[in-house]
Amino acid sequence: MQNILVTGGAGFIGSEFARRMIANHPSYKVVVFDKLTYAGNLDNLLPISENPNYAFVQGDITDHAAVERTLEEHAIDAIVNFAAESHVDRSILNPDAFIQTDVVGVYVLLESARKLGINRFHHVSTDEVYGSIPEGTFREGDSLEPNSPYAASKAGGEMMLRAYHVTYGMHTTVTRGSNTFGPYQYPEKIAPFFITEALDDRPLPLYGDGMQVRDWLYVGDHCDAIDTVLHKGAPGEIYNVGGEHELHNIEVTHFILQALGKPETLIRHVADRPGHDRRYALTNDKIRRELGWSQQHTFEEAMAATVEWYRQNEWWWRKIKTGEYLDFYKAQYAERLAQAE
Ligand code: NAD
Ligand code: DAU
Repeated sequence: MQNILVTGGAGFIGSEFARRMIANHPSYKVVVFDKLTYAGNLDNLLPISENPNYAFVQGDITDHAAVERTLEEHAIDAIVNFAAESHVDRSILNPDAFIQTDVVGVYVLLESARKLGINRFHHVSTDEVYGSIPEGTFREGDSLEPNSPYAASKAGGEMMLRAYHVTYGMHTTVTRGSNTFGPYQYPEKIAPFFITEALDDRPLPLYGDGMQVRDWLYVGDHCDAIDTVLHKGAPGEIYNVGGEHELHNIEVTHFILQALGKPETLIRHVADRPGHDRRYALTNDKIRRELGWSQQHTFEEAMAATVEWYRQNEWWWRKIKTGEYLDFYKAQYAERLAQAE
């Protein structure tokens, strides 16, 4: 591999991956291809913007012509796909863009790769494709029972990879990551949303009883796992990437409030998310045993550093919390918060 296309590389995890690829693989050229939706942000790529091994192309993964032109112009030999509509609540409000990007877009990337003879394709998926598990942990061979339009669209994308591996012999790999946190995460996901709201002493809308369980994974560890699978993963294989650190949402909220020295009175229990998955949990046995990957950060140190990053980097998030962000905030939370008070 020499020239890698990182689709969705202006988002949270994709930009971390692009920055790491530039730092860790100086012989590679990294081309970020991103539509710059509300979640795409060139500020995330500022640390590498002057690097000669980095290039940025604005484009939509559902656009055959734009994808093929980029693959050819940059002589791409591997694709790592992060591009997605990624927020569950938005998929409940309006599923359409999820089907377009997370299903059709994955197909367009695969078909363009096939046409141009690009045989290496890694796809970044999610533990949400399994659905909820009351106890125990999901393994890669377990059935997929996605419950939100987001999860269902991600499962659809994965199925396209399966078809391109089985039918055309493409060297595909998939990672199913758990709830990821760290710097540069758009402040709609619970961690950056609650951190930035608490910094402004605003109410934190916790869905339902707050006893849902998520498995927390630091973004640097998530990207190391993707790098490992990109280089060592076997064709057609799927690898879980869990944080192996399960917490109730109320516990994550308490951690954030404590780190910021803010009171628990900011918490508001609001109407639940429809179809809310109660618990996600994965085993990392396969990636650990077969590829030797393990995570390097503890939740406590990584989340404390993340809280500190948002405290220190208001320049990054304050300008996001305007315009479209406020429209979404109103649609998602105004009524919920009014009813909670
Ligand atoms: P994000 O929302 O921060 O970023 C998504 C990026 O994709 C943005 O830069 C956006 O502009 C781009 N994009 C969206 N539609 C596009 C299109 N049609 N064409 C080109 N670019 C487009 O998402 P994230 O949290 O960084 O997630 C990245 C990937 O990882 C997603 O595929 C997501 O499903 C998966 N994932 C996320 C998590 C998590 O906790 N955040 C966990 C597991 C897996
Ligand atoms: O599990 C991996 C998935 O994690 C990724 O595939 C998704 O892209 C990512 O968004 C994330 O999905 P979740 O729905 O778990 O993340 P979110 O941050 O939206 O919510 C985490 C938990 O917190 C969930 O149980 C819902 C709850 N929550 C969330 C928000 C935004 C609240 O209670 N209040 C909120 O305001």
